[in-house]
Amino acid sequence: MRLSLSLLALLGTVAADSLFAFNSSTQVETRSLDELHQAALAEGGTVVLWHGGDLANGGDDLKKSFEARFPGVTLNVTIDLSKYHDGRVDQGLASNGFLPDSVILQTLQDYPRWDVDGALLRYKPAGFDAINPAYKDPFGAWYGVYVYSWSFIWSSAKLPNVTIAEFADFLKPELKDKLVLTYPHDDDAVLYAFDLALRAYGAGFLDQLIAQNPRWVRGTGTPSLIIQNSTFAEAATFTSDLGYAPVDGIGSTKPATGPFVSWAQTAAILKDAPHPEGAKLLHNYILSPEYQNTTGWQVREDLPLPQGFPYAPLDKVNNTNPVDFARWMEDRGRVERLRFWFEAKLGTAQGVSPLIDPLS
Ligand SMILES: *[C@@H]1O[C@H](CO)[C@@H](O)[C@H](O)[C@H]1NC(C)=O
Ligand SMILES: *[C@@H]1O[C@H](CO)[C@@H](O)[C@H](O)[C@H]1NC(C)=O
Ligand SMILES: *[C@@H]1O[C@H](CO)[C@@H](O)[C@H](O)[C@H]1NC(C)=O
Ligand SMILES: *[C@@H]1O[C@H](CO)[C@@H](O)[C@H](O)[C@H]1NC(C)=O
Ligand SMILES: *[C@@H]1O[C@H](CO)[C@@H](O)[C@H](O)[C@H]1NC(C)=O
Ligand SMILES: *[C@@H]1O[C@H](CO)[C@@H](O)[C@H](O)[C@H]1NC(C)=O
Repeated sequence: MRLSLSLLALLGTVAADSLFAFNSSTQVETRSLDELHQAALAEGGTVVLWHGGDLANGGDDLKKSFEARFPGVTLNVTIDLSKYHDGRVDQGLASNGFLPDSVILQTLQDYPRWDVDGALLRYKPAGFDAINPAYKDPFGAWYGVYVYSWSFIWSSAKLPNVTIAEFADFLKPELKDKLVLTYPHDDDAVLYAFDLALRAYGAGFLDQLIAQNPRWVRGTGTPSLIIQNSTFAEAATFTSDLGYAPVDGIGSTKPATGPFVSWAQTAAILKDAPHPEGAKLLHNYILSPEYQNTTGWQVREDLPLPQGFPYAPLDKVNNTNPVDFARWMEDRGRVERLRFWFEAKLGTAQGVSPLIDPLS
């Protein structure tokens, strides 16, 4: 029997688009960081990383510590909103176009799909077995590398007499015209924060918040920048984070009982990565005790919290669930309905990308 050309083309397309990568074996890393360093150098000494974030300098710390630790290897990191990076990955996959070596994104819903499409390298870096099982693919296609969370942040210089411990504190009269919040419909991890707060306190909480006349901004780094900048009156937020090290003139905490957002920012190596050894070095480094020691709540269960970390171990904190975010992200229908519900309340997100100018 002869198949028509168009049927052959169709079969080819189907095979490429819905390939179940059943027979992709997992590589398990046994080399030391030093051996991986040599392998990365031999390969050309470069690794291209697309990392989720919304401040242009968001990758600087990782780049600096990685390049200092592994001389001769360049970390070419591009920060952009995960929701934009992931579309470029899809486009690269669909067109055999440019792909990075590694992605570290908050769009957790992408990873299982990319794996089923055969796009990810199944690879277990050192420390993989110690990662919380809820944060990882059993075959190493993807895994959480550090835990992100939002905090309550305020300027004690601008608000000398205010303490913030719960969401209700954002409704205090002293905070009228003093709030700066990220548009929930511009960032799913912020949308999730608003969803949690409204499920806990009712839709009326949003109306009370709006009555405080907050400044709405793009980007989760933006509120922290504005709060720390004396040019601006805005002084408090719950859609940002500054890490756990104390910052002069800034108060920062997690709600005592109210629900807050946490998730494992998730990494994968593309199967056709141009620099696989560089990508492996990067992932092994990020999961190493020396780097995990700097990240706050770790994804590995075999390491102590960093010295001076102010919160209990994550599994002892009962007002956040770092696993729930992935489930929540998977339900794109509900996410879209929520996004437009907030857009109707608040208007479309205004301003240029925070990557270009967070203070615009
Ligand atoms: C599975 O993959 C391995 C390694 O690529 C290959 O040697 C083997 O032939 C494959 N098996 C099947 C059944 O395709
Ligand atoms: C860094 O990576 C980007 C893609 O993310 C690429 O366009 C650029 O050419 C790379 N730069 C260098 C110096 O390799
Ligand atoms: C803060 O409280 C102190 C003591 O009650 C008071 O003297 C001061 O004026 C207050 N500052 C502001 C900005 O409200
Ligand atoms: C504070 O904001 C002003 C106005 O946008 C800006 O010119 C200045 O660079 C900012 N300062 C810092 C430290 O970011
Ligand atoms: C973690 O950092 C502390 C200093 O804060 C240091 O004493 C300790 O040796 C570090 N542990 C690892 C595994 O790097
Ligand atoms: C959470 O923990 C706190 C303190 O450990 C406790 O008082 C509170 O009842 C707990 N809440 C829930 C919902 O379990």
